[in-house]
This record gives sequence, structure tokens and C-alpha cells, in this order.
Amino acid sequence: MNANVLSCHITTDTVADTFGADVLNGLSQLPKRLHAKYFYDKEGDKLFQEIMACPEYYPTRCELEIFRDKTAELANAMITGEAFDLIELGAGDATKSQYLLQYLVDRHTAFTYMPIDISGNILSELQNRLETVMPDLSLHCLEGDYLEMLDKATALSSRRKIVLFLGANIGNMEPREAVAFCRSLRERLQPGDLVLIGFDLKKHPRIIRNAYDDSAGITAKFNLNLLKRINRELNGNFVTEQFEHYQSYDPMTGACKSYLVSLCDQQVTICKNHFNFRRDEVIYMEVSQKYAIEEITTLADKTGFRSVQNTYDTRRWFADVCWEVV
Ligand code: AVI
Repeated sequence: MNANVLSCHITTDTVADTFGADVLNGLSQLPKRLHAKYFYDKEGDKLFQEIMACPEYYPTRCELEIFRDKTAELANAMITGEAFDLIELGAGDATKSQYLLQYLVDRHTAFTYMPIDISGNILSELQNRLETVMPDLSLHCLEGDYLEMLDKATALSSRRKIVLFLGANIGNMEPREAVAFCRSLRERLQPGDLVLIGFDLKKHPRIIRNAYDDSAGITAKFNLNLLKRINRELNGNFVTEQFEHYQSYDPMTGACKSYLVSLCDQQVTICKNHFNFRRDEVIYMEVSQKYAIEEITTLADKTGFRSVQNTYDTRRWFADVCWEVV
């Protein structure tokens, strides 16, 4: 066994929450890893907003363009005359989906919008805003885990379901996790139901790498903030100046991965657990998987869906794909 692992005495009983247990487990693995889902504390949310405003980070603007300029194309794949529930996984502030909602409301489409989010705060802000700007919208907010809330939504009504999963969030899953996730979605839906998923597409490798290695260093801060969060919440002592953000993109596999590199031999203590880092050792932080459109269609076929329509931005850098449950 590696000396690095032997030196870690994991006392998860001293860390009650999953965040602590996941961090201790992840740093005991080789290579060490931390989970990107923990990026989003208050500071992480703020930094992610800043990333989306960076000139190099194109995915948000591409998908916004699709929702703003191709609203009719997206909506026409959904409208059959039959009432439906429009369920959005991780709705956030619904900036993009709001274009679609407005289009459907203006055409008196019979549907209920069901945004799902882990954050109750975000949902109540969204509810207040939508009630003001779209008083005719039928709205039912669901706070909690995506799949649990999807179960709840399907128990609430037997209407046709259309599930939105936007923002290239599927890219933050390893490809095999994406397959499992799509199968879990499929299990919860009925033939004829639809899903609309946002995928970031393969393109010139430099464009992709720059999006995750912006010149202002915001993405680096975003990654390092997780070490600060561990210091704050789990009584850690990371010296963040002794770690550096490194971004890789492999155009063959489409895996765009971020790492933090230890700049020296060092020991970090988290909640009485010690972790040794060699100089140049990395912590694997996040994958943002990029897809070719053929790979997306294959994903649909092998998880119980049929590809209905692909909607692109003008540069074809991003696609919102509509699949029907078969
Ligand atoms: C949230 N998610 C889709 C972003 C992405 O592009 O993978 C997270 C992100 N990480 C660094 N920059 C943006």
C-alpha cells in the first residue's frame, strides 16, 4: 500500500455530514480527488457567475442564443395539443428557460412548469419573479434532489412529461455516469414523454481549454475556493498558494478535466486527518465532458430514447437535443 494512504487515519465519525466524508474519502484515493458538486457554496456561486461572464466561457451564451433565437423550434417539438408538465432539473434562475415559458404562455399552451432545485432560496426568488412577469403561468416548485423530485412530480399528475436538463450539466458526469443518469431518467418516464438536454459540443481544442483556463484566473479561483471551503467548514489547513490550477482537454475522448497541482511536498490536516502531497501531485477536481453529435445520438439509443431534434447555436458549438422516450 502507498505510504500516502497509510498516513491517513480517516475518522469519519468526527465529520457527520457527507461533505466531510466525501472529502476525506476523495483525498485518500490515488489519484486524489474532490467532487465538483461541492464548488457551489456562497463564494463558489459568485465565482461561477463571474465565469459565465468571462469572454472565454462560451457555453452559457451559446445556450442562451438557442433559447432566445430558436424558441419556436424548441417549443414546436413539445406542443402536441395535449397538456403536459414541464419539469426543469436544476432550474436556478431559469434565465434560459424563461424564453420558452413566455413563448408557451403567449400561445395559451396547457402546461405546468415544475422547476426542481436543491436550493429553496433560489426557488422562492424564481417563484416571486415568475409570478410577477408571467401571472398566467401555472407553477409548482419542487425543492430537493433531481431524481427524488422527478419521482414526486410523476406521482403528482399523470400528464405527459417534458424534462429539461440544461446548461451542459450532463458534462459534469463521467460518460458512464451520464449513461446511468439517462437510464434513471428513462425509468421514471413513459413512452411519448420528452427530454431536452443541453450538451457542449467538441470543437477546436484551444477554444475549449481556454474556456476553462480563462486569462483573468476566475476558473482557477473557483477550483481553489473548494480548498478554502474545506478550511472553513471542515477545519482544514490548506495553504492555497501552494496549489495551482491545471486544465487539460483531450480532443480524442472529449474529456476536459481540471486539477489542482501541489507545488511542493506538504502535509494538510483536515479534521485531525493528515494527508501528504508530493510536489507535482494532482487532485482531480472536475470533468466537463464534450460530445460529438453522433455520440449524443448513440447515448439516446442505448438509454431508451429516440433522438427527435437537435437545435444548435449559429456556430454549432452547443446543442439542445430533444429525445422521446420509446
Ligand atoms: C456547471 N457546469 C456545466 C460548468 C461546466 O462548464 O462544466 C462548471 C464549470 N466549471 C468550470 N467552469 C465552468
